[in-house]
Amino acid sequence: MQITLRQPDDWHLHLRDDAMLEAVVASSARHFGRALVMPNLVPPVTTGEAAREYRNRIEQAVQSALPDSGFKPLMTLYLTDTTEAADVVQAAADGTILAVKLYPAGATTNSASGVTDLSRVMPVLEAMAQHGIVLCVHGEVTHAEVDIFDREARFIETVLEPLRQELPELRVVMEHVTTRDGVEYVAANDRNLAATLTTHHLMINRNHLLVGGIKPHYYCLPIAKREEHRLALVKAATSGDERYFLGTDSAPHTRSSKESDCGCAGVFNAANTMVCLAAVFEEAGALDQLEAFASLNGPRWYGLAPNDASMTLRKSGNASPLPPPVQVGDECVMPFDPARPIYWEVI
Ligand code: NCD
Ligand code: ZN
Repeated sequence: MQITLRQPDDWHLHLRDDAMLEAVVASSARHFGRALVMPNLVPPVTTGEAAREYRNRIEQAVQSALPDSGFKPLMTLYLTDTTEAADVVQAAADGTILAVKLYPAGATTNSASGVTDLSRVMPVLEAMAQHGIVLCVHGEVTHAEVDIFDREARFIETVLEPLRQELPELRVVMEHVTTRDGVEYVAANDRNLAATLTTHHLMINRNHLLVGGIKPHYYCLPIAKREEHRLALVKAATSGDERYFLGTDSAPHTRSSKESDCGCAGVFNAANTMVCLAAVFEEAGALDQLEAFASLNGPRWYGLAPNDASMTLRKSGNASPLPPPVQVGDECVMPFDPARPIYWEVI
């Protein structure tokens, strides 16, 4: 069995910088046409100028790793309490950025500069609504008293819905939705709202993380939830509904920083995302919807054409090996282990 689709894009990717960027970029460039690159570097990418410089570094890394890939990084700006509306509008108008990323302060890896209170960024959000600039949202509240498994649902209720009431013209992507609440919220709103889904949240639940020993390589944010939530995500991804599309949230960390007293959040799935998705969609009886999810719905939301190139996936009789760890100096980054045999390969 095999299927051919338009070349996919990744609408949520962490490529990092320097040696890590050079080490991991080929894993994305090998399969994806474009990726929306997250701005949570240290320090974060907060200005149009910084985004242009970062894009140049990514393009150079692609040139040395996989020059013929044609892989195109699309950039985001990291919204802070002091972001200037004029800089955002200019960076979008001149094609530097495709979207702005909202991290609630303290929500995840390198989010210390995130927004402390939405009222502080209202002028920027108003300008974005007016100019049709997309806001990509890490949708978790960060209050210490809110349980980590409830943070997404609480965000929808206390932050996202009030924001969308106030600014209905703002185009919002709920990034890496991990709950049935998230899927239901998207399904109930047919204007100016979409969601990305990650590869790993379609494949693992919190038991994978916690049963039989703690598995730090499954630790990511938002944290994996109960199986019933995973099933809701699979249903959304495989439905063909154009509001859902792929954002891998591939987030490389070195092995030692994950296998640690205070392990970093992030799953590195760039290299095996497409074979994993083929398995998920096959199991759901929805292989015919994989192209919409991975290759068509994202560009449509962003007003871009789908890629011209194509990708063929083939199912073989033997399970494919995991991608090898990626070497970064004398450290390595471990690939996502989908916790089941995968019979698909990209040919
Ligand atoms: C991301 C990272 O490492 O940059 N980690 C993660 O678990 N997803 C940050 C993020 O997207 O939340
Ligand atoms: Zn992310």
